[in-house]
Amino acid sequence: RDDEAQERIRAARARLGERAVLLCHHYQRADVYQHADLTGDSLKLSRLASQTDAEFIVFCGVHFMAEVADIMSQPHQKAILPDLAAGCSMADMANLAKVERCWRELREVLGTPDALITPVTYINSAADLKAFCGEHGGIVCTSTNAPVILDWAFAQREKVLFFPDQHLGRWTGYKKGIPLEQMVVWDPDLEYGGLTPEQIRNAKILLWKGHCSVHQMFQENHIRRWRMQHPEGLVISHPESSLDVCVNSDYVGSTEYIINVIKNAAPNTRWLVGTELNLVNRLAEEVKPEGKIVQFMAPTVCMCSTMQRIDPQHLAWTLENLADGKIVNHIQVPPHEAELAKVALDRMLAVS
Ligand code: 13P
Ligand code: SF4
Repeated sequence: RDDEAQERIRAARARLGERAVLLCHHYQRADVYQHADLTGDSLKLSRLASQTDAEFIVFCGVHFMAEVADIMSQPHQKAILPDLAAGCSMADMANLAKVERCWRELREVLGTPDALITPVTYINSAADLKAFCGEHGGIVCTSTNAPVILDWAFAQREKVLFFPDQHLGRWTGYKKGIPLEQMVVWDPDLEYGGLTPEQIRNAKILLWKGHCSVHQMFQENHIRRWRMQHPEGLVISHPESSLDVCVNSDYVGSTEYIINVIKNAAPNTRWLVGTELNLVNRLAEEVKPEGKIVQFMAPTVCMCSTMQRIDPQHLAWTLENLADGKIVNHIQVPPHEAELAKVALDRMLAVS
């Protein structure tokens, strides 16, 4: 059945020709990734989405990525997500109602959040949250550019509200030397985030209580045990991992960064990698001929289950429909929302 789906993908692509471009995130499964025209991390893919001229941008990634492709592309282009159920559990941990309530409560405590706080949303968020940032003088960041974006945010106002990933926010703040006690967690399910007015007033960064279900599996003790067995080995992690994991890693960065560091490393080196399994398995195979050993950090299998939903069958069905002139799974951000979200995304691209 898989062979049949692969053949259907090839045939539909041949019919579509240059009308379709396939963008693939690095976590995509191998049987889909092999069809990619362009691959990247979230920052690279958002730039590529604004540069391609194809009529259909078929996004093999998750929902927020296809939204970004829609926002950043031209009016004649269409962003397509082969399975509409491919969401991001972290992105779902923040929504507009909760962020607006947070802003109201901050107004009660601080007076004027628009003068005091820069809202920063990780790109792993719905388009309406990017629009919120666009409207309130805020910005989008990715795992690659979070440090420069945080500098930008503090150049505008004295505090930052960072959502939805507390770990990326904490690691980035920590690297900037912000004391841990000035980075407090805002729990959106509690009044005033579960914080006292004094905690809010003293905070430099308010960290939304969100996380990635994949990266939360990695633990500092996985690193410690591995280092005992392989003292010469090197550890590299994605910044969605906890602060303990990041602090104990030799390198921390985006998916693209992880791939580049290991590919450019000396031959015969050994690596422990804290990011999604599809990426790690693919990289391990690619660098094996140079004698490099690449190992996955967690003892359990942890893939991005939503990214995994984009399988060859869904991709074949999508491409066949597009080739037949039927537009399916079109991701369209409402125009007023797209306009404001683009303000925040353009700020990001200008800064990074
Ligand atoms: P990157 O931007 O590093 O590819 O990260 C996206 C993501 O969702 C990681 O979990
Ligand atoms: Fe979202 Fe985590 Fe999947 Fe990345 S790995 S897309 S943050 S659920």
